[in-house]
Amino acid sequence: MTQLNDPAVDSNSAVEPQTDIQAAAPAADTTRDNIHTLRWQSYLKDCREIINLVEPLEVAGRIVKVTGLVMVATGIKMPIGGACFIPLQDGGRVEAEVVGFDGENLLLMPQTAVDGVVPGAKVFSMEVTDTLPKPQFGRPPRRRAQDRARHFPVGDGLLGRVVDAAGVPLDGLGPIATDVTAPLNGRVINPLMRAPIEETMDVGVRAINAMLTVGRGQRLGLFAGSGVGKSVLLGMMARYTTADVIVVGLIGERGREVQEFIEQILGPEGLARSVVVAAPADVSALMRLQGASYATTIAERFRQQGKNVLLIMDSLTRYAMAQREIALAIGEPPATKGYPPSVFAKLPALVERTGNGARGEGSITAFYTVLTEGDDQQDPIADSARAILDGHIVLNRSLAEAGHYPAIDIEQSISRAMHNITSKEHQQSARLLKQLYSRYLRNQDLIAVGAYQPGSDPMLDVAISKHDQINQFLQQDIHECAAMQDSLQQLSQVVS
Ligand SMILES: Nc1ncnc2c1ncn2[C@@H]1O[C@H](COP(=O)(O)OP(=O)(O)OP(=O)(O)O)[C@@H](O)[C@H]1O
Ligand SMILES: [Mg+2]
Repeated sequence: MTQLNDPAVDSNSAVEPQTDIQAAAPAADTTRDNIHTLRWQSYLKDCREIINLVEPLEVAGRIVKVTGLVMVATGIKMPIGGACFIPLQDGGRVEAEVVGFDGENLLLMPQTAVDGVVPGAKVFSMEVTDTLPKPQFGRPPRRRAQDRARHFPVGDGLLGRVVDAAGVPLDGLGPIATDVTAPLNGRVINPLMRAPIEETMDVGVRAINAMLTVGRGQRLGLFAGSGVGKSVLLGMMARYTTADVIVVGLIGERGREVQEFIEQILGPEGLARSVVVAAPADVSALMRLQGASYATTIAERFRQQGKNVLLIMDSLTRYAMAQREIALAIGEPPATKGYPPSVFAKLPALVERTGNGARGEGSITAFYTVLTEGDDQQDPIADSARAILDGHIVLNRSLAEAGHYPAIDIEQSISRAMHNITSKEHQQSARLLKQLYSRYLRNQDLIAVGAYQPGSDPMLDVAISKHDQINQFLQQDIHECAAMQDSLQQLSQVVS
């Protein structure tokens, strides 16, 4: 005990230099003195190495059950949303997230396949331990549980890159050049601090620019069945929009589509100012959920930098389905059409993160595709999405079948921000075009069989004479860009 309290005795007790220290005459011989210092330095170096060899005590839990998608771990305490890993005997590891608990047991959802996990396998927490404030950097301490969860790369280094839901590059172009990371759960913006939607956003698609004008920071749904042209339309917007940055989340779609979207639809010039996060259908439900959050996190970071971001999420339905898979697996009871209640809580939580930032920040204008199977607009996800989004663009199968692309049904679609951001004349022209278009459609059968007598309905006469022109106006080739100014000019020409 006394030895420990006396530093001189303590440090000397273990090793030889002791004799030298005591024998040394004070600063008499410089060479001798130097040798003495060198020996001390090498001794301290050895001590440091020995200290580094000691492994810190790590708390580990154990896997006691694996059923289907869920693993049960015991003996470790972690918060919901916390990340952990299970080392495998072959040197690999399975990463998982805490999605619930039952008494003392944690319910874990793996991010990858669980092959190789054995009964009693150890579970280690992956919490970021760096929670102390760093005075020189002025960084706030990571106080929230979410902030201590895993961080993923964000920032300019991601531009032009294709990554998976964990930020791992998929394009073979080497590591991501960024040292900025962020957790997947952004901070909620006080609704009163949000900048209102005041400016228009040019998406480069005539029918949308003119008839369904989108505002900066608006969130819209793209409602359609399969194969109606959602991906092509989103790709056109990504290529032709005036937004500073485009973030694309490809969630739960076919793996083949990812490549197709990047190479054919987005193209090199589109990709250069885009970030693509791909979590196709074959990755775990957790990764699909994470992919959507990660894409939103990347967009949030660009918004913080003051940029106007276009976020494209294909699709919101697959996101909801991934949450359904997880919720059912951990025992949540299904409610509406097999969807458990947590699904309907997750959707607004994701969507509310986009939109305008606080004043002075940038904006995230977001498009979410929503699958309406069999063109059924009453699907619970479509219903819930319509309620939380600021507008919906409906793609119509019969238009697509008739070769009318983009197959936007201007009668059923609506942009709720349009009347706040457009001029009176623009609104009047758009309304008139819509009226002419609908009038023609209502009487289409009569006109086709020649039962309509020209002159009996002046409005219909105009509609008939302008029908081809209107159709021309609403259609747009994949390779054609229609800027906002041109779209408005053409609109006024058509209805004049
Ligand atoms: N503007 C367009 N001009 C010409 N053809 C188009 C246009 N938009 C879509 N198409 C045609 O429609 C097909 C299907 O489009 P797309 O892949 O975008 O549909 P989708 O709704 O994304 O389908 P899925 O539900 O399978 O993902 C395309 O292969 C293309 O032939
Ligand atoms: Mg598609």
